[in-house]
Amino acid sequence: MKLSERSIRSKLKTRVVGSTIVILDSIDSTNERAWHEALTGAPEGTAIFAEEQTRGRGRFGRAWHAAKGQSLLVSILLRPDLEADQATLVTALGALAVIDACSEACGVEGKIRFPNDVMVGPRKLAGILVESRFVSTRADLFIIGIGLNVNEAEFPEDIRPLATSLAVETGKPWDRNLLAAALLQSLDSWYDKLAGHRADIVKAFKQRSAILRKRVEITEAGKVFVGRVDDLDVFQGITLRLDNGMMKQIKGEHVDMLRTL
Ligand code: BTN
Repeated sequence: MKLSERSIRSKLKTRVVGSTIVILDSIDSTNERAWHEALTGAPEGTAIFAEEQTRGRGRFGRAWHAAKGQSLLVSILLRPDLEADQATLVTALGALAVIDACSEACGVEGKIRFPNDVMVGPRKLAGILVESRFVSTRADLFIIGIGLNVNEAEFPEDIRPLATSLAVETGKPWDRNLLAAALLQSLDSWYDKLAGHRADIVKAFKQRSAILRKRVEITEAGKVFVGRVDDLDVFQGITLRLDNGMMKQIKGEHVDMLRTL
C-alpha cells in the first residue's frame, strides 16, 4: 500500500513532529526538499516522505539507494533551542526514534552502531543523516533524514550481507503507514526530552549501543584504528582501547566507517 497522509495522521498524537506531512511520489532527496521547505517558512515538525529518491544521500557524500515503495524515506524539520555543543543529541534522537518505532510496531530490536546507524545483528536496518544550520553558537535548524528498510525481500548483491529490512527480520511485510506514524510519534516523545530530560537521551543512547565493549575497526580521516570500545558518549564519542594499550577518543562526526570484528 502507498503512503497516505490521512492514514498516517489518523494514528498520530504528536506535539510537534508531523505538524505538516507531505508525501511525494518521487524526489531527488527528501533532505534536499526539507531544506527548501524550511527556508521558505515550513513549520517546525514538517515531515517530508517520498516513495522514491533519485539522489538519496548518506553520510560523507555516500549515496542511499532504496527500491521504490518498499521503505520509509523521510526528512523531518526541527528547530530546537540548543547550544552548538549539544547538537549531537539530535542525531541520537533519530536513532532512538527508529529503534522504539521498530520495537513497538514490529517487535524488532535494533541497536545503534555509533554514531547513527540502526543495526539488527551485523546488518543495517536504517541510516540517519542529520544536517544542520547554526546562527553563531546556537542551533537554528535541523533536518533529520531517515531511511528505514521495511519491505525489501532482498538487497542488491553488493550490500546483501550488510543490509536487512523489517520484512527480512520478521518474515512478513509491514504496513508502512503504521510504521511512519510510529516513527513520528516516537521522535516526538524523544524530542520532548530535549527540553528538560537530556540525561535520558544520553543514557538510552549508550544502553542501545551495538558496539559498547566490542572489538571494532574505525576509519577516521583515512586512518584505521582497531581496538575495544571501552566507553561511549553522545558528546565525547568513542573511547577506544587500542591494541597497543593506548586510549583514543573519536567523536561521531569523525567516524567515517565502523565495523565490529
Ligand atoms: C547513512 O547511512 O549514511 C544515512 C542515510 C540517510 C538516508 C536518508 S533517506 C531519507 C533522507 N533523504 C536523504 O537524501 N537521505 C536521508
